[in-house]
Amino acid sequence: MTELKVVCITGAARRIGATIARTFHRQGFSVIIHYHRSTDAAEELVTELNRGRASSAQSLQADLCNSKQVQTMGSQALEIFGRLDVLINNASSFYPTELGEISDAIWDELIDSNLRGAFFLSRDLSTELKRTRGAIVNIIDTHADHPLRGYPIYCIAKAGLKAMTKSLALELAPRVRVNAVSPGAILWSETLEDDGDQLAAAAREKILQKIPLGCLGKPEHIAAVAYFLACHGHYLTGQVIKVDGGSSLS
Ligand SMILES: NC(=O)c1ccc[n+]([C@@H]2O[C@H](COP(=O)([O-])OP(=O)(O)OC[C@H]3O[C@@H](n4cnc5c(N)ncnc54)[C@H](OP(=O)(O)O)[C@@H]3O)[C@@H](O)[C@H]2O)c1
Repeated sequence: MTELKVVCITGAARRIGATIARTFHRQGFSVIIHYHRSTDAAEELVTELNRGRASSAQSLQADLCNSKQVQTMGSQALEIFGRLDVLINNASSFYPTELGEISDAIWDELIDSNLRGAFFLSRDLSTELKRTRGAIVNIIDTHADHPLRGYPIYCIAKAGLKAMTKSLALELAPRVRVNAVSPGAILWSETLEDDGDQLAAAAREKILQKIPLGCLGKPEHIAAVAYFLACHGHYLTGQVIKVDGGSSLS
C-alpha cells in the first residue's frame, strides 16, 4: 500500500490556513494543522477532518517567534505521520506599526512570525522534503512589492519571505521546489471587519475600488494556487503567483 502524502500548514486553525488544510485533505493528504493560540479552532478542524477520514489530521502547537519551539515543531512534524511532502508557510502576524513607536519587540514579533520561523522550519524540514522530493509554498502578500502605508515591518517581513522563496528554490533544487502565492485582499483584517464602523466601511470601499475584478478574493482561490504549486507545478520553482484580482496591475 502506498503511504499517504503529508502536508504541514502553519497558522492553519482559521481563515486562509484552514481552507488550505481542507483543500489538501480533500485531495487525499494527511494534514498537520499548526497553530499558536487558536487551540479550540485547531481541535475543531482536526475533528472535522478526522470525521471525514480517520487519523488523517493532527494539530501541532508552536510560537514561531520562539526558536526552541520552532526547532521542536520541526521534529514533531516529522514524527506525526512519519513523513512530510509539503510545507506551507502561512502563519503571520499583521498590525500597523507607527514608525516612531517601533520597539525591538514589535520588530521581532512581525519578522519572526512572518519570516524567521518560516526560514528555520523550512531549513529543518528540508532533509525530509528532499527525501520525498517535496515542495514548500510560502504565502506572501502583494504588499511585499507595493508597501502598505502604516505597516512597514510587515511589508519588510513579506519582502524577505519573497527573497527567501527564490533563495531556497536555488538552495534546495533539484529535489525540493519552493514557490509562493501572493494574495491581494482576501479576508478583511480584524480592524476592517466591523460592519458598524463607518471608518472601516470607507476603508473597505476604498480597497474594493482598486480591484479590477471588483470584489475580494476567497480563501479557496489562495488554496487552489497553493495546491497547484505544490502538486502540479512540476517544472516551477522560485516563482511567486499574485492572486489579487488584478490589483497590482496599476
Ligand atoms: N487575509 C488577507 O486578505 C491576506 C492578504 C494578503 C496576504 N495574506 C497572507 O495570507 C496568509 C493567511 O492570511 P490570514 O488573514 O488567514 O492570516 P491571519 O489570520 O492573520 O494569521 C494566520 C495565523 O497565523 C498564526 N500566527 C500569528 N503569529 C504567530 C506566531 N507567533 N506563531 C505561530 N503562529 C502565528 C495565527 O495562529 P493562531 O490563531 O493559532 O494564534 C493565525 O491564526 C498570511 O500569511 C497573510 O499574511 C492574507
